[in-house]
Amino acid sequence: MSKKLPTIWKAEPHTIAKIELLSAYLKAWFSILGTKPPRRNAELLYVDGFAGPGEYTNHPTGSPIVAVEAATSALNTHEARWRAGDIHCAFVELDAARMENLERKLKSVSFHPRVHPSTYTTSFVNGLDAIKTARPSPFSRAEPLFVFIDPFGATGAPFTAVADILRSRTSEVLINLDADGIARIFRAGDDANRGVLLTEIFGGTSWRESPSFDADFDVQCRQVLDLYKRRLRSLPGIGYVFAFEMRGKLDSINYFLVFASGHPLGLEKMKEAMKSIDQGGAYAFCDADVGQSLLFRFDDPAEFARRLFERHKGKRVPYEELRDYALNDTPFANPKRMLKWIEENDLIESVELLPGKTRCRGTFSEDAVNAVVFRQGAIHAQG
Ligand SMILES: C[S@@+](CC[C@H](N)C(=O)[O-])C[C@H]1O[C@@H](n2cnc3c(N)ncnc32)[C@H](O)[C@@H]1O
Repeated sequence: MSKKLPTIWKAEPHTIAKIELLSAYLKAWFSILGTKPPRRNAELLYVDGFAGPGEYTNHPTGSPIVAVEAATSALNTHEARWRAGDIHCAFVELDAARMENLERKLKSVSFHPRVHPSTYTTSFVNGLDAIKTARPSPFSRAEPLFVFIDPFGATGAPFTAVADILRSRTSEVLINLDADGIARIFRAGDDANRGVLLTEIFGGTSWRESPSFDADFDVQCRQVLDLYKRRLRSLPGIGYVFAFEMRGKLDSINYFLVFASGHPLGLEKMKEAMKSIDQGGAYAFCDADVGQSLLFRFDDPAEFARRLFERHKGKRVPYEELRDYALNDTPFANPKRMLKWIEENDLIESVELLPGKTRCRGTFSEDAVNAVVFRQGAIHAQG
């Protein structure tokens, strides 16, 4: 794909949406970790592993530019409350002409003196090694690290590199997963180097068990995503993995964006960022669950409330588990509106409160609710 494109190319609407999403998320990420770092003066490290030229023919800012702008905005906004150290933004790009363009573009942007960009004209894997040598602590200690992995196509970002990034307790990744391209590799047959490529993408041979080679292509793409998410979830401490689909005009899958983190707040903020992006244009975010393609509706909890109930009916479920379910399996950042719907439909047996707390019917504050006991019954509700 990259061979066909010039140094700077025209961005599709969903590409611009992806950059806006990254920008919204990074503003929150830099602000939160800048004012409440894991330790005073901890450095914040942002890595863009497939940085691109920094601009598009029809759009002034690529991902590296929005990152330094988000870092600058966080530092300016929170100057008085800033407790972290400086912000380092490392950009990796394999194509020399694109990197030259990016470096020129970075020179034209004014950013805060505590923001330090650095560039690496090499592959993602080699760039990551060089960054690790230059700034080892975010990779080994609990220092904040966020890595954006946005390749063209299915290869270039081996799972071993992703696992290495996620080894540190406070690191997070946002990956543009070309499930379409990976599904094509599955179909290519063994003489097309399939085994080597898939083992690299999934970091092992678990791909041999799934997806089913005779499934429809669309189903296979979702199975690829499902397997990738399971691989991420298998990493120690990675309790929050969420994917959504960027869908273009013709209702075809463009790609999945997959977020992984060890902290619920990261996923909460990513969902808030998603919600803040205008979806009225030529693309939409969709639920990326296997076999589903629901548009994300932040205003309508009914469908997801039904799923939450089906998963937990007849059980006593601690609030924290419901929060994690909401984060990992629904578009919502918490279970409150889904629980309200379930209670309105008389499907809750009882709500256990924390000592000394009360609540009004229909409210499920994390400060008051300890656990929810769901009825065993069937859903009769409409809407
Ligand atoms: C999808 S574009 C990146 C767009 C950019 N992240 C943005 O949002 O503006 C992918 C970029 O990765 C570069 N690239 C391709 N293979 C690479 C590799 N193995 N390592 C690093 N960069 C690579 C391409 O030249 C291209 O500029």
